[in-house]
Amino acid sequence: MRSHLLNGLTAEHYRRCVTEGVERVAARLIATERPFTGVTVDGLAPRVDAIDLDRPLGDTAAALDELEDVYLKDAVYFHHPRYLAHLNCPVVIPAVLGEAVLSAVNSSLDTWDQSAGGTLIERKLIDWTTGRLGLGPAADGVFTSGGSQSNLQALLLAREEAKSDDLARLRVLASETSHFSVRKSAKLLGLGPDAVLTVPVDRDKRMRTVALAHELERCRAEGLVPMAVVGTAGTTDFGSIDPLPEIAGLCARYGAWLHVDAAYGCGLLASRRYRHRIDGVERADSVTVDYHKSFFQPVSSSAVLVRDGATLRHATYHADYLNPRRMVRERIPNQVDKSLQTTRRFDALKLWLTLRTMGADGIGELFDEVLDLAVEGWGLLTADPRFDVVVEPALSTLVFRYVPAAVPDPAEIDRANLHAREALFAAGDAVVAGTTVGGRHYLKFTLLNPETTPADIAAVLDLIAGHAEQYLGGSLDRAS
Ligand SMILES: Cc1ncc(COP(=O)(O)O)c(C=O)c1O
Repeated sequence: MRSHLLNGLTAEHYRRCVTEGVERVAARLIATERPFTGVTVDGLAPRVDAIDLDRPLGDTAAALDELEDVYLKDAVYFHHPRYLAHLNCPVVIPAVLGEAVLSAVNSSLDTWDQSAGGTLIERKLIDWTTGRLGLGPAADGVFTSGGSQSNLQALLLAREEAKSDDLARLRVLASETSHFSVRKSAKLLGLGPDAVLTVPVDRDKRMRTVALAHELERCRAEGLVPMAVVGTAGTTDFGSIDPLPEIAGLCARYGAWLHVDAAYGCGLLASRRYRHRIDGVERADSVTVDYHKSFFQPVSSSAVLVRDGATLRHATYHADYLNPRRMVRERIPNQVDKSLQTTRRFDALKLWLTLRTMGADGIGELFDEVLDLAVEGWGLLTADPRFDVVVEPALSTLVFRYVPAAVPDPAEIDRANLHAREALFAAGDAVVAGTTVGGRHYLKFTLLNPETTPADIAAVLDLIAGHAEQYLGGSLDRAS
């Protein structure tokens, strides 16, 4: 069994195994014609169930053959130009290389004595990101597992900085289109069930600052503590960007911590053409960035950044076995002092190799391409009478609904759109997402693949219309 342990003696075996795995994936990428095969749970589960984990296959080739059957063959492939569903990006090769290196060396970023250079690389990337954000000289941050964790940590700091003993009086203000992790965080942080005040949005799905001001004033009048306002730079459903400068002004006036959830919009930080769309973020107290959404990084890769690095102390605990207090005096850089996690992946390496190979402009250019594609998609949708489209994209999301003039019943149209999405997924020709707007079912394209073309968008719209028409067959016939 020692032959499977990675070390100097097994380096040749390691090389062969990993190369074989890489070959399989490469072959899959070449052969994949559709983003999904349409396999069902009932179709796939028996194949997984049939595997006896107590009977190992003994060699990598056999294990990879089996993996082809239970995973690779039927995976959902985000690199495919017709995967248009969730906030998943195709990944850049330097980052995938980073993934291979980081898992082989297997550094853990909690303490200096488990990572050495990895600690310094992560710190440099944090500084690079705070520099791009413009958070100032005292800024700091740490890599996290994703946007949900980044939001949780930011709100933890905000809660502590509010310096209130009465958790029941704390309020977090976020727009109705903010990410659900804000509400989940409030619950995890022990705030009351009414802690998150929902601020309405305008027709562009941006937080209404007049309504925010009203809510802040109400908090003051009722003796409540507005511990944080969450502005979203790239809402999950619409890609809309809240008016950050105005929100920052209100936070300053009412003494509220400003957290900007830029999990999606952070790609603008690398864009030379569209960086201005996220102006105002430099006034935040904390920011969430998900490199695994708009920096073309593999899952997971995220960070929480703060204007005042000293506030990270609210996440600090000293354990004698790991990071005793004396190490602070000795200036030993233990990242666990800033993190909610203990053992932690060296995800930063992926971004490091990306920046060192392609540069930030390279990432920014890819993101610009999808922003431009969204504008073309918007043009296609607004010109097409079969569809109703919700907001002009600020990033790369299009939310729309098939609306045949001949069918007046909105509930029937809801069902047709739901059916179209499911039928598309079952056929595997494309994968699209869905959401509700004003209680009605809509479909969603999240465009994050520069390989997707306007022709792909047009073709998928035709497929959607085709499936919806098929579903409505009876209704359409009756109407004509
Ligand atoms: C705006 C926003 N914030 C936070 C998150 C959560 O990020 P993660 O899925 O990485 O936890 C998402 C996920 O889609 C998001 O869109």
